[in-house]
Amino acid sequence: MDEMRLQKFLSRAGVASRRKCEELIAQGRVSVNGRVVTELGTKVDASRDVVAFDGAEVRLPGGSVTMMLNKPAGYLTAMSDERGGRVVAELVPAAEHPGLFPVGRLDRDTTGLLLFTTDGELGNLLLHPSHNVDKRYVAEVRGALSEAERRALEEGVMLDDGMTAPARCEVLSVLPDGSRSAVALTIHEGRKRQVRRMLAAVGHDVVSLHRESVGALTLGDLAPGEWRELSPDEVALLR
Ligand code: URA
Repeated sequence: MDEMRLQKFLSRAGVASRRKCEELIAQGRVSVNGRVVTELGTKVDASRDVVAFDGAEVRLPGGSVTMMLNKPAGYLTAMSDERGGRVVAELVPAAEHPGLFPVGRLDRDTTGLLLFTTDGELGNLLLHPSHNVDKRYVAEVRGALSEAERRALEEGVMLDDGMTAPARCEVLSVLPDGSRSAVALTIHEGRKRQVRRMLAAVGHDVVSLHRESVGALTLGDLAPGEWRELSPDEVALLR
């Protein structure tokens, strides 16, 4: 909790002096969570409330930012690459948000939801194995999964770094000739190349892999290569 009076919040954010901010509030030019506030004593919580002046969001300097990217294929999950490969940092406003880093990683050829944050504590929390956030992937694989293979993926398969935890696996579609299928796999672990290795362990190579969601967050209509900031409510959901 980081509560303070609205006029203090506005002046700290650099809108104007405290006195001037009181006038702006009284003039009805300031809103909190979408509602105009004219009461000078109003308290806001800088970590949760969305404050706007003349309709534009106002933030305290140094406030943290968390965003999602719809990662396209062909980008490394890294902020730079010595070998000159394309990196996800090129797709997000990294220069505007010093300290922004990707939370976890997607393989170069995996597409979909990748989170970034400047909040180290949030990043550690999300990456900690005990956090157990579900991640749903859709894979296009070679061949058609048998029911026994599908169940094995749900119950756990042996990889070279040990058994996988229980997961959910759903066959979404199979080509009429059985040569390809679309499979949704929801896991909460985050081992290296885990989905590709799990599917290979039951005999199905992955042709393409896409992450649809992380916890309650989904990409919605975010196009490949686009990013958007998470709202305070979405960050709270992640926690
Ligand atoms: N599992 C994989 O195999 N690759 C990813 O990028 C993410 C999960």
